[in-house]
Amino acid sequence: MKMVMDMDTGIDDAIAIVLAAGSPEVELLAITSVAGNAPVDVCTRNCLLLNELLGGDAVVAAGSDRPLVKSLLTAQEVHGADGLGGHAGSLPAPATNAIDEPAFELLTRLPMEHPGEVTLVTTGPLTNVALALRADPDAVAAYARIIIMGGAFDAPGNTGTVAEFNIYVDPEAAALVLGSGLDITLVPLDATTGAVLTRSALTAHERARGLPLERPGRDVSAILHRAIDHYMDFQFDESGLDGGYMHDPLAVAAALVPGILETHDMRVDVVGNGSDRGRTVRAPVQAHAADQGRGVHVAFGHNDGAFIQLLEGRVLRPVFGPR
Ligand code: RIB
Ligand code: CA
Repeated sequence: MKMVMDMDTGIDDAIAIVLAAGSPEVELLAITSVAGNAPVDVCTRNCLLLNELLGGDAVVAAGSDRPLVKSLLTAQEVHGADGLGGHAGSLPAPATNAIDEPAFELLTRLPMEHPGEVTLVTTGPLTNVALALRADPDAVAAYARIIIMGGAFDAPGNTGTVAEFNIYVDPEAAALVLGSGLDITLVPLDATTGAVLTRSALTAHERARGLPLERPGRDVSAILHRAIDHYMDFQFDESGLDGGYMHDPLAVAAALVPGILETHDMRVDVVGNGSDRGRTVRAPVQAHAADQGRGVHVAFGHNDGAFIQLLEGRVLRPVFGPR
């Protein structure tokens, strides 16, 4: 399966990259960065570093440094100043560079080079995908599948009371993409808050019982352990959950395991401004009469046994050793 990932590489994005890289059926063609959890240069650096350390040969392209209209909101309190649970400067510089091509151009070029073969997974704000849609809608329509982590319907929001972060950061981009009529699978908080990696499941693995290193060097397990440790500490302080929500890895799992999600098809509208900014709402069918799509496949649940098995086999054991 050819895959492209558009990411605001923070901590759960990083786990999603490890999951994709650890999946033999995936040919990861490219990773594109977008501003979100951290400024885009930090996200790009993290994509490059992880791609290198995982021995990947994906190309990395830098994307938009800001939303279409709104000013950028980051989540560095959740993901750390370096986007991977540490302070700025505590990670090694990558040895590779991003290609010159802007992310939105790459996001239109690849599906035209491999029409109907590429799965696009997005785990950040939808700015790059919206720019790609504006530049060449037929190219974006040439993806085999588009899987988007974002939104909150019946579940509480995590950015304010009703909005999920990726949608909140760039609601205009989200409205453009989710209203496009394309064949999109949306993985909102309604599903991802049921996908939790507990601290006990992590520390059951030998190398994960080590202390997070202040300066993890070019060691994937040290980088990932410190990142996940930070992510879980934040979640514990915020809600008492002794674990971390696997928002982005669940979006990748949706590409890997047919049927892992329980979805309902609906039209989706996005609130752009005001107290409900970033809210995703079920829209009446006539609101999108113009598009021919069946609407968006929205996930409201998932098979957690299959998901945890995937995490154990393709992330935790390879990175942190046996239980
Ligand atoms: O709301 C969760 C999403 O926002 C995840 O993709 C997380 O990485 C942040 O981007
Ligand atoms: Ca993300």
